Amino acid sequence: MANPAYILVSVALVLGLLSESLAAINPVTYNVLDSGAKGDGQTDSTAGFMKAWSAACGTTNPAIIYAPPGRYLLRNARFRGQCENKAIRIRIDGTLVAPSDYNVIGNAGNWLLVEGADGVSIEGGFLDGQGTGLWACKTSGKTCPIGATTLGISNSKNVLINGLTSLNSQMFHIVINGCDNIKVQGVKVLASGNSPNTDGIHVQFSTRVTILNSQISTGDDCVSIGPGTSNLWIENVNCGPGHGISIGSLGRDLKEDGVENVTVKTVTFKNTQNGVRIKTWARQSTGYVRGVLFQHAIMNNVQNPIVIDQNYCPNNKNCPGQVSGVKISDVTYEDIHGTSATAVAVKFDCSKTNPCQEIRMEDVNLTYKNQAAKASCANAAGTTSGLIEPTSCL
Ligand SMILES: *[C@@H]1O[C@H](CO)[C@@H](O)[C@H](O)[C@H]1NC(C)=O
Ligand SMILES: *[C@@H]1O[C@H](CO)[C@@H](O)[C@H](O)[C@H]1NC(C)=O
Repeated sequence: MANPAYILVSVALVLGLLSESLAAINPVTYNVLDSGAKGDGQTDSTAGFMKAWSAACGTTNPAIIYAPPGRYLLRNARFRGQCENKAIRIRIDGTLVAPSDYNVIGNAGNWLLVEGADGVSIEGGFLDGQGTGLWACKTSGKTCPIGATTLGISNSKNVLINGLTSLNSQMFHIVINGCDNIKVQGVKVLASGNSPNTDGIHVQFSTRVTILNSQISTGDDCVSIGPGTSNLWIENVNCGPGHGISIGSLGRDLKEDGVENVTVKTVTFKNTQNGVRIKTWARQSTGYVRGVLFQHAIMNNVQNPIVIDQNYCPNNKNCPGQVSGVKISDVTYEDIHGTSATAVAVKFDCSKTNPCQEIRMEDVNLTYKNQAAKASCANAAGTTSGLIEPTSCL
Protein backbone atom coordinates (compact mmCIF):
# COMPACT_ATOMS: atom_id res chain seq x y z
CA MET A 1 0.00 0.00 0.00
CA ALA A 2 1.25 3.45 -0.83
CA ASN A 3 2.26 5.83 1.87
CA PRO A 4 -0.70 8.21 2.64
CA ALA A 5 1.67 11.16 2.77
CA TYR A 6 2.90 10.27 -0.70
CA ILE A 7 -0.71 10.14 -2.00
CA LEU A 8 -1.45 13.53 -0.45
CA VAL A 9 1.59 15.09 -2.04
CA SER A 10 0.65 13.57 -5.42
CA VAL A 11 -2.92 14.82 -5.22
CA ALA A 12 -1.71 18.28 -4.26
CA LEU A 13 0.73 18.24 -7.16
CA VAL A 14 -1.92 17.17 -9.67
CA LEU A 15 -4.36 19.80 -8.39
CA GLY A 16 -1.66 22.44 -8.59
CA LEU A 17 -0.83 21.55 -12.18
CA LEU A 18 -4.52 21.41 -13.02
CA SER A 19 -5.30 24.88 -11.69
CA GLU A 20 -2.27 26.25 -13.48
CA SER A 21 -3.38 24.80 -16.82
CA LEU A 22 -6.97 25.90 -16.20
CA ALA A 23 -5.71 29.42 -15.71
CA ALA A 24 -3.86 29.12 -19.01
CA ILE A 25 -7.07 28.07 -20.77
CA ASN A 26 -9.54 30.39 -19.02
CA PRO A 27 -8.70 33.98 -19.74
CA VAL A 28 -9.35 36.66 -17.15
CA THR A 29 -12.10 39.06 -18.17
CA TYR A 30 -11.92 42.78 -17.47
CA ASN A 31 -15.31 44.36 -18.01
CA VAL A 32 -14.84 48.07 -18.73
CA LEU A 33 -17.94 48.83 -16.63
CA ASP A 34 -15.99 47.56 -13.60
CA SER A 35 -13.23 50.08 -14.19
CA GLY A 36 -15.47 53.12 -14.49
CA ALA A 37 -16.59 53.19 -18.12
CA LYS A 38 -20.24 53.99 -18.74
CA GLY A 39 -22.18 53.01 -21.84
CA ASP A 40 -24.43 56.07 -21.68
CA GLY A 41 -22.84 57.95 -24.58
CA GLN A 42 -22.12 60.93 -22.31
CA THR A 43 -19.59 59.95 -19.68
CA ASP A 44 -15.95 60.14 -20.69
CA SER A 45 -14.96 56.47 -20.53
CA THR A 46 -11.34 56.88 -21.62
CA ALA A 47 -9.92 56.25 -18.13
CA GLY A 48 -12.14 53.18 -17.68
CA PHE A 49 -10.85 51.62 -20.89
CA MET A 50 -7.24 52.50 -20.06
CA LYS A 51 -7.59 50.91 -16.62
CA ALA A 52 -8.92 47.70 -18.15
CA TRP A 53 -6.05 47.73 -20.67
CA SER A 54 -3.42 48.21 -17.95
CA ALA A 55 -4.85 45.33 -15.95
CA ALA A 56 -5.03 43.04 -19.00
CA CYS A 57 -1.56 44.08 -20.13
CA GLY A 58 -0.09 43.49 -16.68
CA THR A 59 -1.38 39.95 -16.19
CA THR A 60 0.55 36.91 -17.34
CA ASN A 61 -2.70 35.09 -18.21
CA PRO A 62 -4.65 35.55 -21.42
CA ALA A 63 -7.10 38.38 -20.89
CA ILE A 64 -10.34 39.67 -22.32
CA ILE A 65 -11.32 43.32 -22.18
CA TYR A 66 -15.04 43.38 -22.56
CA ALA A 67 -17.27 46.31 -23.50
CA PRO A 68 -20.94 45.28 -23.18
CA PRO A 69 -23.64 46.87 -25.36
CA GLY A 70 -23.84 50.65 -24.98
CA ARG A 71 -22.20 53.80 -26.32
CA TYR A 72 -18.85 54.68 -24.82
CA LEU A 73 -17.49 58.17 -25.28
CA LEU A 74 -13.71 58.06 -25.66
CA ARG A 75 -11.12 60.74 -26.18
CA ASN A 76 -7.89 59.68 -27.83
CA ALA A 77 -6.67 56.52 -26.15
CA ARG A 78 -3.32 54.69 -26.36
CA PHE A 79 -3.20 50.93 -25.83
CA ARG A 80 0.51 50.34 -25.40
CA GLY A 81 2.65 47.18 -25.13
CA GLN A 82 4.87 45.55 -24.14
CA CYS A 83 2.48 43.42 -22.20
CA GLU A 84 3.07 40.52 -19.83
CA ASN A 85 0.95 38.25 -22.00
CA LYS A 86 0.58 37.73 -25.71
CA ALA A 87 -3.16 37.13 -25.80
CA ILE A 88 -5.39 40.11 -25.15
CA ARG A 89 -8.82 40.10 -26.74
CA ILE A 90 -10.75 43.33 -26.85
CA ARG A 91 -14.36 42.31 -27.31
CA ILE A 92 -16.70 45.14 -28.14
CA ASP A 93 -20.43 44.51 -28.11
CA GLY A 94 -21.17 48.23 -28.12
CA THR A 95 -20.07 51.40 -29.90
CA LEU A 96 -17.05 53.52 -29.10
CA VAL A 97 -17.85 57.14 -29.90
CA ALA A 98 -15.40 59.97 -30.56
CA PRO A 99 -16.13 63.40 -29.05
CA SER A 100 -18.62 65.36 -31.14
CA ASP A 101 -16.31 68.40 -31.02
CA TYR A 102 -13.73 67.43 -33.65
CA ASN A 103 -11.10 69.68 -32.08
CA VAL A 104 -10.72 67.34 -29.10
CA ILE A 105 -8.96 64.60 -31.11
CA GLY A 106 -8.44 66.47 -34.39
CA ASN A 107 -4.69 66.90 -33.95
CA ALA A 108 -4.01 63.76 -31.92
CA GLY A 109 -2.90 61.70 -34.91
CA ASN A 110 -4.97 58.72 -33.87
CA TRP A 111 -8.21 58.47 -31.97
CA LEU A 112 -7.54 54.87 -30.85
CA LEU A 113 -3.97 53.56 -31.08
CA VAL A 114 -2.58 50.10 -30.41
CA GLU A 115 1.17 50.47 -30.17
CA GLY A 116 4.04 48.08 -29.55
CA ALA A 117 1.65 45.20 -28.92
CA ASP A 118 2.08 41.50 -29.63
CA GLY A 119 -0.94 39.19 -29.74
CA VAL A 120 -3.94 41.50 -29.52
CA SER A 121 -7.32 40.97 -31.12
CA ILE A 122 -10.11 43.48 -31.50
CA GLU A 123 -13.43 41.78 -32.09
CA GLY A 124 -16.80 43.13 -33.07
CA GLY A 125 -18.19 46.49 -32.22
CA PHE A 126 -18.60 49.86 -33.84
CA LEU A 127 -16.14 52.75 -33.87
CA ASP A 128 -17.94 56.00 -34.58
CA GLY A 129 -15.42 58.72 -35.46
CA GLN A 130 -18.15 61.41 -35.72
CA GLY A 131 -16.22 62.94 -38.62
CA THR A 132 -19.02 64.78 -40.39
CA GLY A 133 -18.34 68.11 -38.64
CA LEU A 134 -14.68 68.04 -39.61
CA TRP A 135 -15.49 67.09 -43.22
CA ALA A 136 -17.83 70.07 -43.45
CA CYS A 137 -15.10 72.33 -42.04
CA LYS A 138 -12.59 71.03 -44.58
CA THR A 139 -15.01 71.27 -47.47
CA SER A 140 -15.89 74.86 -46.58
CA GLY A 141 -12.22 75.82 -46.92
CA LYS A 142 -11.95 77.02 -43.33
CA THR A 143 -8.89 76.30 -41.21
CA CYS A 144 -9.52 73.01 -39.43
CA PRO A 145 -7.48 70.34 -37.67
CA ILE A 146 -6.08 67.67 -39.97
CA GLY A 147 -8.24 65.00 -38.32
CA ALA A 148 -7.47 61.77 -36.48
CA THR A 149 -7.17 58.23 -37.79
CA THR A 150 -9.90 56.20 -36.13
CA LEU A 151 -7.81 53.10 -35.35
CA GLY A 152 -4.03 53.00 -35.64
CA ILE A 153 -2.03 49.79 -35.25
CA SER A 154 1.62 50.76 -34.91
CA ASN A 155 4.85 48.82 -34.41
CA SER A 156 2.87 45.74 -33.44
CA LYS A 157 2.73 42.11 -34.45
CA ASN A 158 0.22 39.27 -34.45
CA VAL A 159 -2.85 41.48 -34.33
CA LEU A 160 -6.34 40.43 -35.45
CA ILE A 161 -9.12 42.86 -36.24
CA ASN A 162 -12.28 40.86 -36.68
CA GLY A 163 -15.86 41.92 -37.39
CA LEU A 164 -15.34 45.58 -36.62
CA THR A 165 -17.36 48.41 -38.16
CA SER A 166 -15.76 51.83 -38.55
CA LEU A 167 -18.08 54.76 -39.18
CA ASN A 168 -17.37 58.30 -40.30
CA SER A 169 -13.72 58.61 -39.41
CA GLN A 170 -12.29 62.14 -39.30
CA MET A 171 -9.37 61.01 -41.49
CA PHE A 172 -8.23 57.46 -42.36
CA HIS A 173 -10.29 54.70 -40.77
CA ILE A 174 -7.62 52.06 -40.06
CA VAL A 175 -3.85 52.57 -40.41
CA ILE A 176 -1.37 49.70 -40.08
CA ASN A 177 2.13 51.09 -39.70
CA GLY A 178 5.40 49.32 -38.90
CA CYS A 179 3.72 45.98 -38.26
CA ASP A 180 4.18 42.26 -38.88
CA ASN A 181 1.43 39.66 -39.25
CA ILE A 182 -1.78 41.63 -39.00
CA LYS A 183 -5.11 40.14 -40.07
CA VAL A 184 -8.13 42.27 -40.80
CA GLN A 185 -11.28 40.33 -41.56
CA GLY A 186 -15.00 40.86 -41.78
CA VAL A 187 -14.55 44.58 -41.38
CA LYS A 188 -16.97 47.26 -42.56
CA VAL A 189 -15.96 50.81 -43.29
CA LEU A 190 -18.74 53.30 -43.85
CA ALA A 191 -18.36 56.97 -44.70
CA SER A 192 -19.93 59.16 -47.33
CA GLY A 193 -18.57 59.11 -50.88
CA ASN A 194 -17.58 62.78 -50.66
CA SER A 195 -15.91 62.73 -47.27
CA PRO A 196 -12.32 64.01 -47.60
CA ASN A 197 -9.26 61.78 -46.87
CA THR A 198 -11.27 59.02 -45.25
CA ASP A 199 -9.23 56.09 -46.65
CA GLY A 200 -10.58 52.75 -45.47
CA ILE A 201 -7.43 50.80 -44.62
CA HIS A 202 -3.93 52.18 -45.10
CA VAL A 203 -0.89 49.89 -44.85
CA GLN A 204 2.74 51.04 -44.75
CA PHE A 205 6.14 49.80 -43.53
CA SER A 206 4.50 46.50 -42.76
CA THR A 207 4.81 42.89 -43.80
CA ARG A 208 2.36 39.98 -43.81
CA VAL A 209 -0.83 42.00 -43.62
CA THR A 210 -4.01 40.19 -44.72
CA ILE A 211 -7.31 41.90 -45.44
CA LEU A 212 -10.23 39.51 -45.99
CA ASN A 213 -13.98 39.55 -46.50
CA SER A 214 -14.50 43.24 -45.98
CA GLN A 215 -16.82 45.96 -47.25
CA ILE A 216 -15.44 49.45 -47.68
CA SER A 217 -17.56 52.46 -48.67
CA THR A 218 -15.80 55.75 -48.24
CA GLY A 219 -14.67 59.07 -49.75
CA ASP A 220 -11.05 58.15 -50.54
CA ASP A 221 -9.08 54.95 -51.25
CA CYS A 222 -10.75 51.77 -50.01
CA VAL A 223 -7.29 50.36 -49.39
CA SER A 224 -4.12 52.43 -49.83
CA ILE A 225 -0.68 50.88 -49.79
CA GLY A 226 2.28 52.99 -48.76
CA PRO A 227 6.08 52.57 -48.85
CA GLY A 228 7.70 49.60 -47.16
CA THR A 229 4.78 47.21 -47.64
CA SER A 230 5.53 43.56 -48.48
CA ASN A 231 3.65 40.26 -48.51
CA LEU A 232 0.26 41.94 -48.46
CA TRP A 233 -2.80 39.82 -49.26
CA ILE A 234 -6.20 41.35 -50.01
CA GLU A 235 -9.07 38.99 -50.84
CA ASN A 236 -12.81 39.23 -51.13
CA VAL A 237 -13.24 42.96 -50.65
CA ASN A 238 -16.11 45.08 -51.94
CA CYS A 239 -15.18 48.69 -52.59
CA GLY A 240 -17.51 51.56 -53.36
CA PRO A 241 -18.09 54.36 -53.24
CA GLY A 242 -14.42 55.28 -52.94
CA HIS A 243 -11.23 55.74 -54.91
CA GLY A 244 -10.43 52.05 -55.32
CA ILE A 245 -7.45 50.00 -54.20
CA SER A 246 -4.27 51.98 -54.63
CA ILE A 247 -0.59 51.22 -54.37
CA GLY A 248 0.59 54.73 -53.65
CA SER A 249 1.02 57.52 -53.69
CA LEU A 250 4.65 56.45 -53.66
CA GLY A 251 7.89 58.22 -54.47
CA ARG A 252 7.24 61.45 -52.70
CA ASP A 253 10.60 61.13 -50.97
CA LEU A 254 14.00 60.71 -52.57
CA LYS A 255 14.91 57.83 -50.29
CA GLU A 256 11.92 55.59 -50.00
CA ASP A 257 11.24 51.91 -49.30
CA GLY A 258 9.57 49.87 -52.03
CA VAL A 259 6.43 47.80 -52.23
CA GLU A 260 6.78 44.10 -52.95
CA ASN A 261 4.62 40.98 -53.24
CA VAL A 262 1.08 42.28 -53.17
CA THR A 263 -1.92 40.10 -54.06
CA VAL A 264 -5.35 41.60 -54.65
CA LYS A 265 -7.91 38.97 -55.57
CA THR A 266 -11.66 38.59 -55.84
CA VAL A 267 -12.55 42.24 -55.43
CA THR A 268 -15.57 44.17 -56.66
CA PHE A 269 -15.63 47.87 -57.37
CA LYS A 270 -18.86 49.79 -57.70
CA ASN A 271 -19.10 53.42 -58.84
CA THR A 272 -15.53 54.07 -57.75
CA GLN A 273 -13.05 56.61 -59.09
CA ASN A 274 -10.46 53.88 -59.71
CA GLY A 275 -10.32 50.12 -59.67
CA VAL A 276 -6.78 48.84 -59.23
CA ARG A 277 -4.27 51.66 -59.28
CA ILE A 278 -0.55 52.26 -58.90
CA LYS A 279 0.28 55.89 -58.35
CA THR A 280 3.64 57.63 -57.95
CA TRP A 281 4.79 61.20 -57.67
CA ALA A 282 6.67 62.67 -60.63
CA ARG A 283 9.74 63.05 -58.44
CA GLN A 284 13.11 61.40 -58.04
CA SER A 285 12.96 58.43 -55.71
CA THR A 286 14.65 55.16 -54.86
CA GLY A 287 11.25 53.47 -54.48
CA TYR A 288 9.90 50.51 -56.44
CA VAL A 289 6.83 48.34 -56.93
CA ARG A 290 7.34 44.71 -57.92
CA GLY A 291 5.55 41.41 -57.72
CA VAL A 292 1.92 42.52 -57.83
CA LEU A 293 -1.04 40.34 -58.81
CA PHE A 294 -4.49 41.80 -59.45
CA GLN A 295 -6.76 38.81 -60.04
CA HIS A 296 -10.51 38.22 -60.41
CA ALA A 297 -11.81 41.77 -60.24
CA ILE A 298 -15.23 43.00 -61.25
CA MET A 299 -15.66 46.64 -62.24
CA ASN A 300 -19.10 48.23 -62.09
CA ASN A 301 -19.15 51.69 -63.62
CA VAL A 302 -15.58 52.49 -62.56
CA GLN A 303 -13.95 55.66 -63.91
CA ASN A 304 -10.41 54.24 -64.21
CA PRO A 305 -10.63 50.45 -63.84
CA ILE A 306 -6.93 49.74 -64.47
CA VAL A 307 -4.48 52.57 -64.01
CA ILE A 308 -0.79 53.24 -63.46
CA ASP A 309 -0.13 56.94 -63.02
CA GLN A 310 3.49 57.93 -62.55
CA ASN A 311 2.90 61.61 -63.12
CA TYR A 312 1.14 62.55 -59.92
CA CYS A 313 1.88 66.16 -59.06
CA PRO A 314 -1.05 67.86 -57.35
CA ASN A 315 -1.35 71.55 -58.24
CA ASN A 316 1.89 71.16 -60.22
CA LYS A 317 3.79 71.97 -57.07
CA ASN A 318 7.26 70.66 -56.16
CA CYS A 319 7.61 68.42 -59.20
CA PRO A 320 6.87 70.18 -62.51
CA GLY A 321 9.04 68.79 -65.25
CA GLN A 322 10.32 65.97 -63.09
CA VAL A 323 9.86 62.27 -63.73
CA SER A 324 9.16 59.48 -61.30
CA GLY A 325 12.10 57.48 -60.02
CA VAL A 326 9.85 54.66 -58.82
CA LYS A 327 10.56 51.44 -60.74
CA ILE A 328 7.46 49.39 -61.50
CA SER A 329 7.86 45.81 -62.66
CA ASP A 330 6.22 42.38 -62.60
CA VAL A 331 2.59 43.48 -62.34
CA THR A 332 -0.11 41.02 -63.48
CA TYR A 333 -3.74 41.77 -64.30
CA GLU A 334 -5.72 38.55 -64.62
CA ASP A 335 -9.45 38.01 -65.12
CA ILE A 336 -10.66 41.56 -64.79
CA HIS A 337 -13.96 42.45 -66.35
CA GLY A 338 -16.94 44.77 -66.19
CA THR A 339 -17.79 48.31 -67.10
CA SER A 340 -15.80 51.51 -67.28
CA ALA A 341 -17.46 54.90 -66.67
CA THR A 342 -14.99 56.58 -69.05
CA ALA A 343 -13.74 55.70 -72.54
CA VAL A 344 -10.21 54.86 -71.37
CA ALA A 345 -10.49 51.78 -69.19
CA VAL A 346 -6.82 50.83 -69.15
CA LYS A 347 -4.19 53.49 -68.67
CA PHE A 348 -0.49 52.89 -68.20
CA ASP A 349 1.19 56.27 -67.85
CA CYS A 350 4.66 55.24 -66.74
CA SER A 351 7.88 57.08 -66.05
CA LYS A 352 9.96 58.25 -69.01
CA THR A 353 13.21 57.40 -67.24
CA ASN A 354 11.91 54.25 -65.53
CA PRO A 355 9.42 52.58 -67.88
CA CYS A 356 7.06 49.98 -66.42
CA GLN A 357 8.35 46.47 -67.12
CA GLU A 358 6.88 42.99 -67.21
CA ILE A 359 3.28 44.14 -67.19
CA ARG A 360 1.16 41.06 -67.89
CA MET A 361 -2.48 41.02 -68.88
CA GLU A 362 -4.62 37.94 -69.19
CA ASP A 363 -8.38 37.74 -69.78
CA VAL A 364 -9.30 41.36 -69.36
CA ASN A 365 -12.64 42.55 -70.74
CA LEU A 366 -13.78 46.07 -69.94
CA THR A 367 -16.54 47.85 -71.81
CA TYR A 368 -17.67 51.46 -72.01
CA LYS A 369 -21.30 52.17 -72.90
CA ASN A 370 -21.69 48.60 -74.19
CA GLN A 371 -18.75 49.00 -76.55
CA ALA A 372 -15.08 48.24 -76.39
CA ALA A 373 -13.29 50.69 -74.16
CA LYS A 374 -9.86 52.15 -74.97
CA ALA A 375 -6.39 51.55 -73.63
CA SER A 376 -3.59 54.06 -73.47
CA CYS A 377 0.09 53.36 -72.83
CA ALA A 378 3.18 55.47 -72.28
CA ASN A 379 6.52 53.92 -71.40
CA ALA A 380 4.97 50.54 -70.55
CA ALA A 381 6.18 47.14 -71.74
CA GLY A 382 4.78 43.68 -71.19
CA THR A 383 2.81 40.76 -72.57
CA THR A 384 -0.79 39.69 -72.98
CA SER A 385 -2.58 36.39 -73.23
CA GLY A 386 -6.17 35.21 -73.49
CA LEU A 387 -8.93 37.65 -74.30
CA ILE A 388 -7.90 41.29 -74.01
CA GLU A 389 -10.53 43.96 -74.50
CA PRO A 390 -9.75 46.87 -74.93
CA THR A 391 -6.99 45.89 -77.34
CA SER A 392 -3.70 46.04 -75.56
CA CYS A 393 -1.30 48.92 -76.12
CA LEU A 394 1.64 47.24 -74.40
C1 LIG B 1 4.13 36.74 -50.75
O1 LIG B 1 3.20 37.04 -49.73
C2 LIG B 1 2.38 35.96 -49.35
C3 LIG B 1 1.44 36.47 -48.29
O2 LIG B 1 0.72 37.56 -48.77
C4 LIG B 1 3.23 34.82 -48.84
O3 LIG B 1 2.40 33.72 -48.54
C5 LIG B 1 4.25 34.44 -49.86
O4 LIG B 1 5.12 33.45 -49.32
C6 LIG B 1 5.07 35.65 -50.26
N1 LIG B 1 5.98 35.28 -51.34
C7 LIG B 1 7.27 35.50 -51.24
C8 LIG B 1 8.09 35.10 -52.42
O5 LIG B 1 7.79 35.99 -50.26
C1 LIG C 1 -16.81 41.34 -73.03
O1 LIG C 1 -17.85 41.56 -72.09
C2 LIG C 1 -19.05 42.01 -72.70
C3 LIG C 1 -20.01 42.41 -71.60
O2 LIG C 1 -20.09 41.40 -70.65
C4 LIG C 1 -19.60 40.91 -73.59
O3 LIG C 1 -20.79 41.33 -74.21
C5 LIG C 1 -18.55 40.63 -74.66
O4 LIG C 1 -18.97 39.53 -75.46
C6 LIG C 1 -17.20 40.29 -74.03
N1 LIG C 1 -16.21 40.24 -75.07
C7 LIG C 1 -15.69 39.11 -75.49
C8 LIG C 1 -14.77 39.23 -76.66
O5 LIG C 1 -15.92 38.05 -74.93
